[in-house]
Amino acid sequence: MSNQTELIKQLVEKRAAARLGGGEKRIADQHAKNKLTARERIGMLLDEGSFEEYGMFVQHRCTDFGMEKNKVDGDGVVTGMGTIDGRLVYVAAQDFTVSGGSLSESQAAKICKVMDMAVRNGAPMIAINDSGGARIQEGVNALAGYAEIFQRNILASGVVPQISGIFGPCAGGAVYSPALTDFNIMVKDTSYMYLTGPTVVKSVTGEDVDHEQLGGASVHSTKSGVAHFAAENEQDGIQTIKNLLSFLPSNNREEAPFKDSCDPAGRVDDALNDIIPDNPNKAYDMYGVIGSIVDDGIFLEVQKNWAKNIIIGFAHMNGRSVGIVANQPAVLAGVLDINASRKAGRFVRFCDAFNIPLVTLVDVPGFLCGTQQEYGGIIANGAKLLYAYGEATVPKVTVTLRKSYGGAHIVMSSKQLRGDINYAWPTANIAVMGADGAVGIVYSKELKAAATPEEKAALKEEKKKEYDELFCNPYKAASYGYIDDVIEPRNTRFRVIRALESLADKKLQNPARKHDNLPL
Ligand code: HXC
Repeated sequence: MSNQTELIKQLVEKRAAARLGGGEKRIADQHAKNKLTARERIGMLLDEGSFEEYGMFVQHRCTDFGMEKNKVDGDGVVTGMGTIDGRLVYVAAQDFTVSGGSLSESQAAKICKVMDMAVRNGAPMIAINDSGGARIQEGVNALAGYAEIFQRNILASGVVPQISGIFGPCAGGAVYSPALTDFNIMVKDTSYMYLTGPTVVKSVTGEDVDHEQLGGASVHSTKSGVAHFAAENEQDGIQTIKNLLSFLPSNNREEAPFKDSCDPAGRVDDALNDIIPDNPNKAYDMYGVIGSIVDDGIFLEVQKNWAKNIIIGFAHMNGRSVGIVANQPAVLAGVLDINASRKAGRFVRFCDAFNIPLVTLVDVPGFLCGTQQEYGGIIANGAKLLYAYGEATVPKVTVTLRKSYGGAHIVMSSKQLRGDINYAWPTANIAVMGADGAVGIVYSKELKAAATPEEKAALKEEKKKEYDELFCNPYKAASYGYIDDVIEPRNTRFRVIRALESLADKKLQNPARKHDNLPL
């Protein structure tokens, strides 16, 4: 065997050893927990044969706690580039079979390398997290490694899409990088996100809580809103990442890819002419409207089980990727509260950063009032959504279906927040508030002065009717030009598509400044 042949044989053997990570026993343990290995995950994520790995032979440099005898090529993370549907992406998948995927200085350097490449080359960065956090044996070097990653997450924000898969326990530093990225996809029953696990919680707060209750996908997709998607299993999680990418551009200089569809742009839907109940206090399901107007009824909903009074997600309209924001009258009457404002505010900012037009469907009775909301900061949180819409320069098309009252009217992509095209259905009510509240305030003296309860009720009814006629329609707003046109509901799809097409080359810039100061 020539020297060269021998060296090539060594390389092949070294590669094979590196591919085994922490070894067959730990891979079997990983499978026994219903989890895949880092390489199996990358294999499912990327187009076949497209993966180019970098840093396969990187090792840690720690010599404390006997770590010099515990070195594994790759050091607990698999990094590189590949394609998804033919589009370039960069990936870093932590390998739990090597020191529980914990982050060493060297592991961090590998992750940072691909993050830098993603930004330089304008491609999405996908991190699959499965890690016990900072590698304890490396002390401050591991912390420094996390800080390097966080700094890059921050600088990449709004430049390339950053997506985090949470595919195992993620503790400590392992949760903050995902928190800085655009989307977190958790896997039900096998992934957890928390600052510290149940044992530390017990010792610090005395609270008895298990992994799932503390930071499972169920918690973060329904209570905290930290997870944008809760996947049924890892395959579903990987598919969600791919679906999500199909709506996104590769970077902030590009438009999202077009998706051909056989769904005619001019399709009308008569059912929409009957969807609004006669009783203004009766709910209907906004999903019916979204499904009716988008291409092929396909809607990728984000944070679907958190703050369900507002709906956000991606769809295509005549092939163009759009971000949909819609009040949901079927949940809390579609009111804007703290969580709904945070949810939609961040989504609007994401779409704006990545040139994705916004389609806003409005049926909102107002902001939720009361001590719980005030103490929780509804003022500052509501302002986040207001700020996000006012700041956004992407095309903004708004359709008011029914209620649009007060501050919530302004917030939901109104004309004065630079809404480009604002349509209303004939069922729209655009006013400071509904008739009941308005009459109670404007005619309080007269109502108090009524001689009998019957007289009071009759006066109230009469004034409500007057108010309804004057304000509870779209024509007052249309008469001032705040609404560009009152449209037949059945025509909503093609009117919105036409609007979006007219706005395809929209140019609008905010004033130059170091950065804005949105109410965090
Ligand atoms: C070094 C670690 C590790 C870590 C796990 N391991 N976490 N090694 N540093 N942080 C190792 C274990 O020693 C073990 O090695 C292997 O990984 C698998 O771990 P197990 O505990 O056997 O697995 P499991 O029972 O599945 O539990 C997983 C876990 C648990 C829930 C993640 O390991 C855990 O609680 N780890 C610590 C989590 C934590 O508190 N991290 C915070 C770090 S501080 P062997 O060789 O025995 O197989 C931090 C601060 C950053 O991250 C702050 C930035 C803002």
